[in-house]
Amino acid sequence: MSFRNYKEKIDEGDIVILYLSNNLYALDVRPEIKNTKGDMVENVYQTPFGALKVRNLIGADYGSRVELSKGWGHVLQPTPELWSLTLPHRTQIIYTPDISMILLQLDLIPGSVVVEAGTGSGSLTHALIRRVRPHGHVYTFDFHEHRAKIAREEFNEHGLADFVTTQHRDVLAEGFGEDLKAKADAVFLDLPKPWDGVTHAVAAIKEQGGRFCSFSPCIEQVQRTCLALKEHGFQDISTMEVLQNELKVTRRNVPVRDLSFLKHKFEVDKETKHVLRPDNIGDDLCSSDVLEYIIMYIIFIMYVIPIEVYQYSCNKICKDLNDKLYEWIYAHTYIRSAR
Ligand SMILES: C[S@@+](CC[C@H](N)C(=O)[O-])C[C@H]1O[C@@H](n2cnc3c(N)ncnc32)[C@H](O)[C@@H]1O
Repeated sequence: MSFRNYKEKIDEGDIVILYLSNNLYALDVRPEIKNTKGDMVENVYQTPFGALKVRNLIGADYGSRVELSKGWGHVLQPTPELWSLTLPHRTQIIYTPDISMILLQLDLIPGSVVVEAGTGSGSLTHALIRRVRPHGHVYTFDFHEHRAKIAREEFNEHGLADFVTTQHRDVLAEGFGEDLKAKADAVFLDLPKPWDGVTHAVAAIKEQGGRFCSFSPCIEQVQRTCLALKEHGFQDISTMEVLQNELKVTRRNVPVRDLSFLKHKFEVDKETKHVLRPDNIGDDLCSSDVLEYIIMYIIFIMYVIPIEVYQYSCNKICKDLNDKLYEWIYAHTYIRSAR
């Protein structure tokens, strides 16, 4: 029942999301489960960080830390977003970036009546329910009998049965039924041939109008659906692809090179032949020195800066090249000073 309302403590029968080092797992909080022989045994969930006795979660706070033999995790209350990432897949599912756009485009608010086909794994259905509850309703259809049954059971177990009606039906052949004639604020289709469902969608949508949205992976499907929508008098038809680009912000240390040698004139100890760094930097610059420094600065701007920037991406080859270039600049300075 943990989907229904926000809760402080975990109860037996809740679904919890176990968050382990960036991995998410959905757990059914039952102290005992049936083994393959049909006997009731202790429910122990195996994780990469060791076994978790599910019984120990009962009474724990949502958000609290759970200790495992080789680490720890956190137990979170499920949301439609977390459920989409952890649910048992029975079909392809729709994920949060598309779901958020679908909810927006369907103009759904609490109290809306929405028709969905097919139910599939119920990923979108959970988000639709959260948006339209407590006074709205989701009518969801799937022509795969087992999928419709499992989805119905899942909605019941999640405490969402009041907000959703799951039906087993081929909506392209039979439509959405007499009961839903002119009742829906919005219709959503995730079917292989959505264009064949447009007539039924028109019948289900309220007299004053409503919204229709269809989700298709292929542009040919989109094309046919748009033509069908146009034929049936839909306005403001648009096609969109949702691309999410997450920016990961991390702190990195970048080595700071000592480039002060570029500014100084070097001298060579005549006996030891070592390069010396004079105190009177900048004295006695002749015109050939100036030209040489200009060339060095050009090299610096054209090669060293881009390489430094590129080195940000930790490219090993680039780093070697960079080192070679510095070696070359040092060698060049030495030769010049030795002259
Ligand atoms: C891709 S899945 C839907 C996934 C769902 N949107 C989700 O996010 O979990 C498509 C579903 O449509 C169902 N389906 C296909 N044709 C149908 C039809 N004519 N009537 C009802 N359901 C249909 C399939 O059985 C399948 O479960």
